[in-house]
Amino acid sequence: MVYVEDTTFDIRQASNRQYIYLVVHTTLIITSDKPSFTKMKIVAIFFIVIAAVVMIHHVEGRRRNVDNERKEAFRNKIRKYERKEKCRRNNGYEKDGCLNCKDACNTDVAGQEYIDINGVCSGNNTCCKPCSDTCGGSFTGPMGSFTSPNFPSNYCNNQDCYFNITVEDGDRVMLNFTTLHTAFDGDFLQIYNGEIEDTFETFLYRGGPYPPTEIDVSDNPSSNKIIVHLHSDETQTQPGFQVTYKTFW
Ligand SMILES: *[C@@H]1O[C@H](CO)[C@@H](O)[C@H](O)[C@H]1NC(C)=O
Ligand SMILES: *[C@@H]1O[C@H](CO)[C@@H](O)[C@H](O)[C@H]1NC(C)=O
Ligand SMILES: *[C@@H]1O[C@H](CO)[C@@H](O)[C@H](O)[C@H]1NC(C)=O
Repeated sequence: MVYVEDTTFDIRQASNRQYIYLVVHTTLIITSDKPSFTKMKIVAIFFIVIAAVVMIHHVEGRRRNVDNERKEAFRNKIRKYERKEKCRRNNGYEKDGCLNCKDACNTDVAGQEYIDINGVCSGNNTCCKPCSDTCGGSFTGPMGSFTSPNFPSNYCNNQDCYFNITVEDGDRVMLNFTTLHTAFDGDFLQIYNGEIEDTFETFLYRGGPYPPTEIDVSDNPSSNKIIVHLHSDETQTQPGFQVTYKTFW
């Protein structure tokens, strides 16, 4: 402990201000009456000792900080590794939390679709594959069925799929959706009776899941084409749809 004019402090813990205070006050006390060469020597030695103490204090402080930073970084690394491991054990895919692989592929990895590797997720995004560039198709004949790409897994982001049904002149069509579910925000399923720019009637579905839905498409005197259009934007996907169609007259 050091005592200077009503102030007591532990010299090993002193701040720079307290050191300066100590030096100035001690110098003033020693030199207050009759300065002499001996007194000046004492002051000089005192200065050197204090300077040494300050330096040691600083170096130690810095080393303590560096040690703490290193320890904290190491602890963070361990924590991160543990999170990843826990996620992997749960067949998950770790990114800002633990997503399961299916959700990760369907919502997180843009332009990827989920493929189940024998029902087991590999622990990272190896269970995703790039979305196919092509989707949709042409259908003729009195009956048929088709699904959104990748069904019953989710369809992909950023796609427009057209399924064109062509029927005999004068035929009516009944569409029977056993599944109908798109992401609510920017995705939709739209059915055109006729060409898109010259449609006789349209049916629009967003969100869902809808209960099984039957759509009776009227006879369009100017076209025998029906277009089922699935649009997906850049985020969120859902299983899409599964439909059978039948013609009658
Ligand atoms: C993640 O996938 C890559 C291949 O895409 C593979 O090399 C790596 O080992 C996988 N990591 C884990 C933890 O499964
Ligand atoms: C389906 O119809 C749309 C709109 O007329 C057209 O752009 C698309 O190429 C057609 N697809 C097939 C597979 O015929
Ligand atoms: C629609 O599909 C469901 C399930 O396959 C079936 O039970 C139902 O009879 C179908 N409706 C028509 C009108 O075909």
